[in-house]
Amino acid sequence: MSLTERIAALEEEVRTAAARTADEVERFRVAMLGRNGSVTALFEDFKQVASDEKRALGQRLNQLKQSAQARWEELKENSGTGSTAAMDAGDPTRPAAIDAAGSLHPITVVRQRIVDTFARIGFTVSQGPEVEDDHHNFSALNFPPDHPARDMQDTFFVQGEGQFALRTHTSSVQVRVMEGSKPPIRTISPGRVYRNEAISARAHCMFHQVEGLYVDKGVSFAELKGTLDYFAKTMFGPDVSIRMRPSYFPFTEPSAEVDMSCSICGGSGCTVCKHSGWVEIMGCGMVDPAVLSNCTIDPEVYSGFAFGMGVERIAQLLYRVPDLRLYWENDVRFLEQFSADAFRS
Ligand code: DAH
Repeated sequence: MSLTERIAALEEEVRTAAARTADEVERFRVAMLGRNGSVTALFEDFKQVASDEKRALGQRLNQLKQSAQARWEELKENSGTGSTAAMDAGDPTRPAAIDAAGSLHPITVVRQRIVDTFARIGFTVSQGPEVEDDHHNFSALNFPPDHPARDMQDTFFVQGEGQFALRTHTSSVQVRVMEGSKPPIRTISPGRVYRNEAISARAHCMFHQVEGLYVDKGVSFAELKGTLDYFAKTMFGPDVSIRMRPSYFPFTEPSAEVDMSCSICGGSGCTVCKHSGWVEIMGCGMVDPAVLSNCTIDPEVYSGFAFGMGVERIAQLLYRVPDLRLYWENDVRFLEQFSADAFRS
């Protein structure tokens, strides 16, 4: 092969060279430009070339050396990023980039966990309207006409005082379910509720509740307690316990406030439980016979229990969010912290 032919062959080789790894790049350099490399060898042979050919061949040889060097630089750069001319389609063995997908809102996550917990023991889910009439929000639930909860200060009225309002609690759904179906009834009603409160770290004019209702023949207070104990242990772990304190609600008799042993300090006392070892988690009681009657259920035949809890409150105990307003600001730095929980329940 003449020197010209060898130069042409090497030009082609340089042009099509490929290298994926740093080792392959180095092998290319040694094969072409190393002490015993092909290009270097051509320079040796060039010494024998007749002087009238030297000028033209010398130029081509120098060009070959330059393009081998440029190719080497190019391969070096590409192998670092994992892509070479031959791999332009991308490296199929590289781990996939993780897209920052959105996540469920913490209130949605907690509401879903509450629903799942009761669904497991046979509770269905029911819903009612957020704009509610006086009958469902108050009267059927035994609120006397002058009860302070009906006051303009608490309730957002729609179309003037009296007729329609944004519901102040999800107990209104109890009434709708009892009016619309026959016992046995075992249902929970998650939803938004509204109260005319000044917004602060501890109060908001809109929040979420989950209402529970069980009506059948012979439903007892012991079953209520067992159900709520199961709920607390499922949500917060087997070590928590509950206690009930006598309380008053117009729609239950007897009524109780439910406390749970503080899931944060284990009951020994901390700032969350105000050093009492207990945190309040919900209200409950036996459905007042007058409420059953109002909803066309015979209290001589049936009895029931009901309970109502705030979703933000449960979320706060699970996540220790210090300020309620964080839930509504939609700051992604806050929301991102719950992304793993969305897939847990
Ligand atoms: N409706 C009550 C509230 O908003 C919560 C509640 C208490 C619901 C006792 C109930 C219950 O069903 O039995 O504060």
